[in-house]
Amino acid sequence: MNIANILILLLPLFFAVPIQSSSSPPHFLKSFTQNSGNETINDAPQQYFEVKRPLPTDAITPACSVSALTYSFGNTYGSPPVTVDYIPPPVTCQWSLAVLEFRAECKGEQYDRIAGVWIDGVELLRTSTPQPTEDGIFWNVRKDVTRYSSILSPSQDDDDHTLSVMLENIVNDEFTGVIHVNVSFLFYSDDDVRVPLSVVSGDSEAQRLNRKLISVQTHENVDKIELDRVLNLLYSYDKPADLILPISGDLDEGFWFRIQNESDVETKNVQISQKTYKAVLELYVSFHGDDEFWYMNPSDSYIEANHLATGRAHGAYREVLVTIDRKLVGSVIPFPVIFTGGINPLFWEPVVSIGAFDLPSYDIDLTPFLGLLSDNKSHSIGLQVADGISFWLVDANLHLWLDHSNVKAETLKHKVPSMEVHRHNQFQQLDGEFELEGERESVAKGSVTSSFGNIKSEYTDKLKFKSKLKFKDQGTRKQLNQRIKRKSKIRITDENDKLIQSLQVEITYPLKINIETGPGSDADTSVMNTTVVQERNEKFNGVNDSRVLNQSQNCTGSMVVKGNAVLSGSADNHQSYDYKDRFGCYSRKVDVIGGDVVADVASAVCA
Ligand SMILES: *[C@@H]1O[C@H](CO)[C@@H](O)[C@H](O)[C@H]1NC(C)=O
Ligand SMILES: *[C@@H]1O[C@H](CO)[C@@H](O)[C@H](O)[C@H]1NC(C)=O
Ligand SMILES: *[C@@H]1O[C@H](CO)[C@@H](O)[C@H](O)[C@H]1NC(C)=O
Ligand SMILES: *[C@@H]1O[C@H](CO)[C@@H](O)[C@H](O)[C@H]1NC(C)=O
Ligand SMILES: *[C@@H]1O[C@H](CO)[C@@H](O)[C@H](O)[C@H]1NC(C)=O
Ligand SMILES: *[C@@H]1O[C@H](CO)[C@@H](O)[C@H](O)[C@H]1NC(C)=O
Ligand SMILES: *[C@@H]1O[C@H](CO)[C@@H](O)[C@H](O)[C@H]1NC(C)=O
Ligand SMILES: *[C@@H]1O[C@H](CO)[C@@H](O)[C@H](O)[C@H]1NC(C)=O
Repeated sequence: MNIANILILLLPLFFAVPIQSSSSPPHFLKSFTQNSGNETINDAPQQYFEVKRPLPTDAITPACSVSALTYSFGNTYGSPPVTVDYIPPPVTCQWSLAVLEFRAECKGEQYDRIAGVWIDGVELLRTSTPQPTEDGIFWNVRKDVTRYSSILSPSQDDDDHTLSVMLENIVNDEFTGVIHVNVSFLFYSDDDVRVPLSVVSGDSEAQRLNRKLISVQTHENVDKIELDRVLNLLYSYDKPADLILPISGDLDEGFWFRIQNESDVETKNVQISQKTYKAVLELYVSFHGDDEFWYMNPSDSYIEANHLATGRAHGAYREVLVTIDRKLVGSVIPFPVIFTGGINPLFWEPVVSIGAFDLPSYDIDLTPFLGLLSDNKSHSIGLQVADGISFWLVDANLHLWLDHSNVKAETLKHKVPSMEVHRHNQFQQLDGEFELEGERESVAKGSVTSSFGNIKSEYTDKLKFKSKLKFKDQGTRKQLNQRIKRKSKIRITDENDKLIQSLQVEITYPLKINIETGPGSDADTSVMNTTVVQERNEKFNGVNDSRVLNQSQNCTGSMVVKGNAVLSGSADNHQSYDYKDRFGCYSRKVDVIGGDVVADVASAVCA
């Protein structure tokens, strides 16, 4: 039985039929049991990592920590998530910053897997696992989870709380990698935290002392609000929400909704407190099966005309839509995270792709819609994927900020039109061009009268999407050029129309992929030349605050494949990370050649 047949039998959901048709960039297995045996054997397990900035807490001893879960994910496919009691930190532990730590190790043949961590159905982390080697690998994901404070330290201490981790893995004679995971929470007192970046890996002690460090203690007027702003993500909010409601599915299915097609709308009814003065919906999204590489999917007509046996189609436009009572209120085109089996698995060792260990979540400010939501009635929040095919894992957290008593909310204006997508498809047999262009401009305005007075918030959002996919030389050469661009603004004014706060977020996500396939020297093998050039650019501007992230990866490589197993090959991955906020800068460059990190330089000096 060849590997493709085994996969058809065993991996019905996560790795749908890897067929070597000219239309599909398949998901690969970096197989070491099938390769030619020329790889170097290191005896020590290797650490895998994602290039990002260190957390301000990295060098600090936590005030307290909670070891939440230790579990070995063996043959967990189709099982509900692993669920344990969540024990909050002791009340004697004074903390204002929380970090989730996901440590894992694995050894043996194994695909990459998707995983999620929830407390009481609220998602805290979406992560994916790298493909292990014979000698074993380990990795450590740390994420600032301060924004989930109300879930981490619930006020009703008599309630039962649960922590769940979903990681569907298959272990049998062929796939031997069991994934050992430890999840813990580290709680820090803000007396101890230095802002912004107290540790830069590779720094000497002298460099560390030379760098301008701003201690929160020395910064007299820095209140907690400011600290939170510094520590949160680009799209920041002044303080953690008072309450977070899960917009997620059943425990058995792993909380996330499995969205199978474009007409599949998953809903959750919520009745929110009339004390709510601010609401933000945070979306978690990942794409799998026939939509894992949605950005490279050609049109259905191309697949039909060429009688190709693949489900990877339906064009290359996707958007996650959010509705309230079936009315569209917001949308997100997700950053295209490439998992470690994607395009060329040799790219992603030991440095994984942008976002692969900490998939970005996306915030949609629903404050202007409080007029619809806060009438003490139940409302249906819906999640769907425009043009989606099987399958997407989507859920959301509704962050709510509560006043002391009831507020009065009104939705003054609301215009969220559907995306106008222009498509231009042209093909002759296996060669063709698939062009897409879409644009959407949304406005929402609402007012909330609370103990803060009468506050108006206006949200405008402009989203642009462009994609060009070309197939040449009988479909053996594929080129993608995609660009996602978004500009959002929030203006908050008082009753006299005086500006209190304004935030502007600009995002661009360009992605270029080339794949050239030719015959290999052995029968049923092929040679593939692959490149990925991708950027994540995010810019945030507040009244007194700004921060910029420019991140990029540039990967080139070639590989010999048989079915979907990589037999041999070589690959380079060059990543850079440049971040700047009003406290300072952080930049890091990592160069990987043939799986070896040849350079890893970090600096905290502003250019
Ligand atoms: C394995 O390495 C040897 C010696 O370096 C080389 O001659 C041979 O071509 C390599 N085999 C493969 C399949 O790469
Ligand atoms: C998980 O924790 C246990 C107990 O402390 C330890 O023995 C094991 O090495 C840890 N595993 C990982 C992957 O960190
Ligand atoms: C879409 O997916 C849903 C949920 O799996 C299913 O019930 C429905 O039949 C599907 N619709 C189409 C048109 O395939
Ligand atoms: C809100 O609804 C709940 C029941 O869903 C009811 O008990 C409560 O009295 C209502 N509050 C107000 C202010 O109407
Ligand atoms: C911005 O800074 C000015 C001067 O320090 C201050 O008066 C104002 O309140 C700040 N605005 C915001 C929104 O933080
Ligand atoms: C891959 O790249 C090499 C070196 O540039 C070239 O010789 C070879 O023809 C390419 N293979 C394919 C399938 O394009
Ligand atoms: C990516 O790297 C290749 C060489 O490895 C270089 O030729 C190319 O210009 C780079 N592209 C970008 C966008 O940096
Ligand atoms: C990010 O990129 C923009 C546009 O290229 C540039 O103006 C800005 O200086 C960059 N910022 C950082 C922190 O690298």
